[in-house]
Amino acid sequence: MPANQSFYITTPIYYVNDDPHIGHAYTTLACDALARFKRLDGYDVHFLTGTDEHGQKVEKAAADAGVDPQAFTERVSQRFRQLADDMGFTHDDFIRTTEPRHIEAAQAIWKRLIDRGEIYLGAYEGWYAIRDEAFYAESELTKGADDEKLAPTGAPVEWVEEPSYFFRLSAWQDRLLEFYEKHPDFIAPNSRRNEVTSFVKGGLQDLSVSRVSFKWGVPVPDDADHVMYVWLDALTNYITAAGFPDTESASYKKFWPADVHMVGKDILRFHAVYWPAFLMAAELDPPKRVFAHGWWTNEGQKISKTLGNVIKPHDLVERYGLDQTRYFLLREVPFGNDGDFSRESMVTRMNSELANDYGNLAQRALSMIAKNLKGIAPEPGAFTEDDQAMLNAAGELPAALRPLMDAQAFHEALERIWVVIRAANVYVDRQAPWVLRKTDAPRMGTVLYVLAETIRRLAIMTQPFMPDASAKMLDAVASPGDKRSFGDVTDTAAMLAPGAELPKPQPIFPRYQGEEEGEGA
Ligand code: MSP
Repeated sequence: MPANQSFYITTPIYYVNDDPHIGHAYTTLACDALARFKRLDGYDVHFLTGTDEHGQKVEKAAADAGVDPQAFTERVSQRFRQLADDMGFTHDDFIRTTEPRHIEAAQAIWKRLIDRGEIYLGAYEGWYAIRDEAFYAESELTKGADDEKLAPTGAPVEWVEEPSYFFRLSAWQDRLLEFYEKHPDFIAPNSRRNEVTSFVKGGLQDLSVSRVSFKWGVPVPDDADHVMYVWLDALTNYITAAGFPDTESASYKKFWPADVHMVGKDILRFHAVYWPAFLMAAELDPPKRVFAHGWWTNEGQKISKTLGNVIKPHDLVERYGLDQTRYFLLREVPFGNDGDFSRESMVTRMNSELANDYGNLAQRALSMIAKNLKGIAPEPGAFTEDDQAMLNAAGELPAALRPLMDAQAFHEALERIWVVIRAANVYVDRQAPWVLRKTDAPRMGTVLYVLAETIRRLAIMTQPFMPDASAKMLDAVASPGDKRSFGDVTDTAAMLAPGAELPKPQPIFPRYQGEEEGEGA
């Protein structure tokens, strides 16, 4: 890996109108796993998350809470930082759109757009959904109960008529299509790419990018009656955090364009259509990739406050454990698809994949070393073909996982690791070190060495997904803290040192014994 190669990854910035829920934790978790993976692979990573604090939706939530918007955003933004701590996220920066650095950047991109004739003053007349902070054409609306007009997302809309600045989005249709064509990896997964392309082919209208009917936003430069449209403001956070408007700064040069913007499918259009158009119009580089993941349901039901089935990330962590929650969310669903959270499925994965497959593998091997070898890592004899195949299988994991992680196929990356975990369990059964103990003690030592070394390699690879458990496992095989990157998987200098003292093994993935066990089976 070339030294100092950079990797810039972002989460959406979250609206502070409400408390964090599983959707927020999910997007950031995916970024966290990828950020950790890249760091362990030698990249200089910049991982950004934060909160989206302006706009009518937040203003309204603050008014409903009877607090002024600034105090309200302080309070709710803090809950998102708390979530990040609870989940062990390793972001390098947490941006808030009310920060001076961001207001400066948002106004600077506005000026670049106006200077280039990409924004003009007009008047907006049309439908707006506060919940989505989005404009809709009459033809997109459906009717709800009592003939109420609804956006395609189900959000109520209101009629807006006011002076507004417009961005010449209509002029960008061909250039956007050309951009998608030239950068086939820009939108992922593929099905989403087709969706966006056909939306753009359907024709684009100029976009209203300022409002005068409320105040909670970034003031439009040189026209204080207007505040910037919250999406133009919010999207700009990705370049603010890279150092914009100083496009000559070391950080901007290093990190922009971003490698991946991770988003939920509901906000893909803003990221894959508006955002590259804004940037190209401002003569700035568009990001390299936007990945849209799916949505979670809870036991088959859409998650909603009215149904009272909101999943709080903190509750999952309390009940099942942090690493278990991280593992489940990334393993259960092919990343990009919708997924269902079910307690039964959570418990099954915890017990069969974590406790049985992975946990028992380590427990069996390490307790045999503790019991029969006084906890001292054995000196291996010559490796047999089977031993070598086992070590190689684990040694190939970094190369096997790189393309999967670059495609954000987290579930496949985990499955690929489990292929090796299962192979290691087959290896133990076949080698039967408990029989060798009586018949061929030196050979038992070799087998246990191969197993402990395999566990060391596996634990390095599971760090991005399950950082705490992996660290415990690495401690259990006496792996030094500075020898845990992917380069150390096969570096002979990092291999388990014969004679090393291994601590008394502790179970790392306990079986879940909660009330759900057997439930619904
Ligand atoms: N503020 C905007 C993003 C601006 S980015 C420049 C926003 N904020 S949000 O708080 O509504 O973001 C929510 C994120 O959580 C989105 O990526 C959305 O897809 C995700 N989820 C919300 N509910 C979800 C589920 N039930 N399941 C998975 N993710 C979901 O949009």
